[in-house]
Amino acid sequence: MNAAARPAPGNAADADAAAATETSHGLLTADGLDFRYGALPVFTEVSLSIRRREIVALLGGSGCGKSTLLRVLAGLESPSAGQVRFLDQPLERPHPRSALIFQHASLLPWLRVEANAAFGLDFRHQPAIAAGVRQSRVREALAAVGLAGREHAWPAELSGGQAQRVALARALAREPELLFADEPFSALDAITRAEMQNLLVDVVHRWHAAVLLVTHDIDEAILVADRILLMGGRPGGILAEWTVDVPRPREDHPGAVTALRLEILAALRDTFTQATAGVD
Ligand SMILES: Nc1ncnc2c1ncn2[C@@H]1O[C@H](COP(=O)(O)OP(=O)(O)O)[C@@H](O)[C@H]1O
Ligand SMILES: [Mg+2]
Repeated sequence: MNAAARPAPGNAADADAAAATETSHGLLTADGLDFRYGALPVFTEVSLSIRRREIVALLGGSGCGKSTLLRVLAGLESPSAGQVRFLDQPLERPHPRSALIFQHASLLPWLRVEANAAFGLDFRHQPAIAAGVRQSRVREALAAVGLAGREHAWPAELSGGQAQRVALARALAREPELLFADEPFSALDAITRAEMQNLLVDVVHRWHAAVLLVTHDIDEAILVADRILLMGGRPGGILAEWTVDVPRPREDHPGAVTALRLEILAALRDTFTQATAGVD
């Protein structure tokens, strides 16, 4: 492992410790997950794994249970049945080596960019870090997302794309092994969105982090992911899986991207047909 490529000081030991706990099952494994809201079953019998440094897209139509599954995998909700393991331990609450980003950056308007990016690093469940280390981690993360020099800006001075860059920096500052991202770029215009997709791939590679990216956008899944899981059905489940072996940058391989896109689109259409069959 090229631990030296990790951005912040003191990471090599952490990375080696994490690698030592890795098993053939992966960084995160989910086994036989069911989830219901009261009487409403959202998904059933979901088993999956995410390997270290792997970018996995969870793709599916609106309402099929993607966000709920992400929340269960992140430890924000408990499954009705089954188990999630992260770094070889049963997961009962969000793990300090995981981080989350959502569609809206949710920055605190009374904190400057740097304080927003540092927000949460001091929380009780986070490993204690010295103030100097914290600041260098945050500055490095802000520089990596293209916000060097904007540390003292207020959230109100930022565009939507810049706000989402702060949210990404806040996640990176935690040095996550796994980043959960729920439709993080859905609210952005097309050009900003494409920039952010490339930025996400770039920074998680540099940080050696894995990603679970929830999206309803086939193109985003193909551009970003190493592997795509298709969710659908009623109740939901993982219906198909593709390994994306198109070389990066993927924009340079439009033929391969289009072929995969058509294949996934056909499968996605089938999930809608299945989901509506037998429904009044
Ligand atoms: N807090 C909740 N209480 C009850 N039902 C919910 C709640 N959140 C989501 N649902 C329902 O669970 C299903 C899956 O929702 P969600 O996971 O948000 O889907 P997706 O992210 O794929 O759009 C939907 O039918 C939704 O209406
Ligand atoms: Mg959702």
